[in-house]
Amino acid sequence: MLIKRISPSDCKESDVTDERIYLGRREIIKAMGFFGAGSLLASSAASAGILDIFGEQPQSNLFQQSALDYSPAGASAEELTPEAKITGHNNFYEFGVEKHQPAELAQSFKVNPWQLKISGEVENPYTLDYDDLHTTFSLEERIYRLRCVEAWSMVVPWIGFSLAELVKKAKPTSRAKYLAFETLYDPDQMPGQKSRRLGGGIDYPYIEGLRIDEAMNPLALMSVGLYGKTLPPQNGAPVRLVVPWKYGFKSIKSIVGIKFVERRPPTTWNILAPNEYGFYANVNPAVDHPRWSQASERRITSGGLFAQNRIPTLPFNGYGEQVAEMYRGMNLRKYY
Ligand code: MTE
Repeated sequence: MLIKRISPSDCKESDVTDERIYLGRREIIKAMGFFGAGSLLASSAASAGILDIFGEQPQSNLFQQSALDYSPAGASAEELTPEAKITGHNNFYEFGVEKHQPAELAQSFKVNPWQLKISGEVENPYTLDYDDLHTTFSLEERIYRLRCVEAWSMVVPWIGFSLAELVKKAKPTSRAKYLAFETLYDPDQMPGQKSRRLGGGIDYPYIEGLRIDEAMNPLALMSVGLYGKTLPPQNGAPVRLVVPWKYGFKSIKSIVGIKFVERRPPTTWNILAPNEYGFYANVNPAVDHPRWSQASERRITSGGLFAQNRIPTLPFNGYGEQVAEMYRGMNLRKYY
């Protein structure tokens, strides 16, 4: 099932300018994607409906259709960020604070077996193991902009399932107001958790949170793959959150726990520097980071070092139509 909501601010596969990448990827996926070693189990993928995404069935036409009514909000047509850049320029402090370190230090990270535990204020607590992550909910491809608080951005073709589906299955009680997410804590595998220098002074495990209505928003995605393959470890394998209207630090990686709670949970970057990183962290060009402007961003594209790729930042990262309503009446300067 593909995301049904088509709006001008969504990036869709056929909207991206680099057709060579798009077509090439389809070929790669056909040749090996979900059938090769280290990728999603073919049977899991088929039962989850993921193969439809790349077939010639009506669902794949959704991309074609959306191109007809596509007029990007405030930006020209967008190019997918090349896979090598998405997987080679990472923030994953458990594997070091330099952008190149996660790709180097995470390669032997074990993602199977895995357990993601859903608990707290729910009628139906449950645990998803590695295979469940790929078979329990229907998988979709969603091309989203990812805007880091550091003022760089990418366009990423994620594979994943709707967080709302995971929430519904848990049957939250009336006391469940927030979701608290937690990354794996395993210093033997994650060198940044052993060394404060390598791990950027964070008290691990990395934790994040969403309000329950944010978690139910159709754009909130639990990602298990990108570019048609399972997630590389440096991008948060085997499962990470993607909330495209918020700064990237909300999109917590390698998640082992989601707890439904009554009160707003503490979050890693807010604990570390509360005046710089809020709980909400909605992308907002009008509210600068205390140390730099958020009015524009450097889009990471296929271009080289000197590519002219500075673009204006859009409110809610261009997804306002789908999410602004959730914050109506809130002072977004106070709740940054
Ligand atoms: N999750 C964990 N567990 N640890 C991290 O250091 N970094 C965050 C977020 N999720 C981070 C994390 C930040 S700051 C960003 S911008 C995104 O992951 C980067 O995701 P990417 O490396 O896939 O581009």
